[in-house]
Amino acid sequence: MTLDQLNPPTRLLMGPGPINADPRVARATASALTGQFDPWMTATMNETMGLYRSVFSTANEQTLLVDGTSRAAIEAALVSLLSPGQKVLVAVMGRFGLLLEEIAERAGAQVITIERPWGTVFTLDEIEEGLRTHRPALFATVQGDTATTMNQPLEGLGQLCHRYGALCYVDATASVAGNALLVDEWELDVVSAGLQKCLAGPSGSAPITISERAREVIYSRRHVEAGISEGADGPGERIRSNYLDLAMLMDYWGPERLNHHTESGPMLYAARECARIIADEGIAGTVARHRLHGAAMAAGLEGLGLELFGDQTHRMNNVIGVKIPDDVDGDRLRAALLEDFAVEIGTSFGPLAGVVWRVGVMGYNARRDAVLATLAALEAELRRFGHPTPASGGVEAAMNHYQEQES
Ligand SMILES: Cc1ncc(COP(=O)(O)O)c(C=O)c1O
Repeated sequence: MTLDQLNPPTRLLMGPGPINADPRVARATASALTGQFDPWMTATMNETMGLYRSVFSTANEQTLLVDGTSRAAIEAALVSLLSPGQKVLVAVMGRFGLLLEEIAERAGAQVITIERPWGTVFTLDEIEEGLRTHRPALFATVQGDTATTMNQPLEGLGQLCHRYGALCYVDATASVAGNALLVDEWELDVVSAGLQKCLAGPSGSAPITISERAREVIYSRRHVEAGISEGADGPGERIRSNYLDLAMLMDYWGPERLNHHTESGPMLYAARECARIIADEGIAGTVARHRLHGAAMAAGLEGLGLELFGDQTHRMNNVIGVKIPDDVDGDRLRAALLEDFAVEIGTSFGPLAGVVWRVGVMGYNARRDAVLATLAALEAELRRFGHPTPASGGVEAAMNHYQEQES
């Protein structure tokens, strides 16, 4: 049997990620491959490290890519930072906090959680109470929990953790470049991300940044792979993953260039181009763009007579949760939106599955035309499903928002 040439449908991806990759990124991935230690390749790796320092607003030398989707970097961080039996405090306000809990458990850590209802965030006082009571070696949280669309405030968090002798890890997969994230100013020790949200790329590469404090902890567990070099091993227990061993990854990305995995050329190129697009715009400009178009989408959804989900004072700029009207089958409407308009939006997980839709406005799709097209298509489907909605209510509210911002 011969198969046709690959020809995926053209969709407008307005869900919680992945989104349509910026065409610049798609073009970059098709560039020629080189050997992994070709001077051009290693220079490109160094350039990419520099570009991600700007994305993360950090001077951290150890800013690199983990090959894999976002959870590869989460797992690399937790398995490398946490020795078995060590205490970690995880803040859970949605599905991705639960993911941190699970990964830390699998790493053999002693996991303690603090919890908030989905749709809310923690105050610094609540986090401090947890740190005071439990005295963990590590505090772990998600910045933007995509499942709930909430954005956890992080200002002052690193300083707080350090006062209690804890390091601080943040999963910024869905929030980086869409919301303020000042890694150095907020003293966040390890922060990881993925390309497929506000960075405007495909999934498959996970940028990570590591503070000097965290590097020391990880290096104390350094055990160089046999047959590579006589490198000095640290006194700590060997990290329980080879692929996700951040000490070995630092040795690979650093001047030692110790052999580890074979860095993926196409994903390196993609990650580099994602960060170059942001460098052109300036990180503050990229965040502002997400704020503008996300707010226009939120206004438009309300203009359709829909109710937004969660604490709106802490909503991520780039993902909006909206309650599915009682008289509409949410999954059927989403399927119709995809079928009729080629527009994808998401539902959520667990208690929010079938209860909210999640509409993403991120990366290449944080654009006026993408916002307006989505609102127009959603209005048409709401009507077809028998749900009364103000004529042009969504598009007009969004356009009014743009007009107000311009004046
Ligand atoms: C906040 C957050 N963390 C982690 C992940 C997992 O990312 P990946 O699917 O790239 O492994 C996601 C994916 O949506 C996410 O939104």
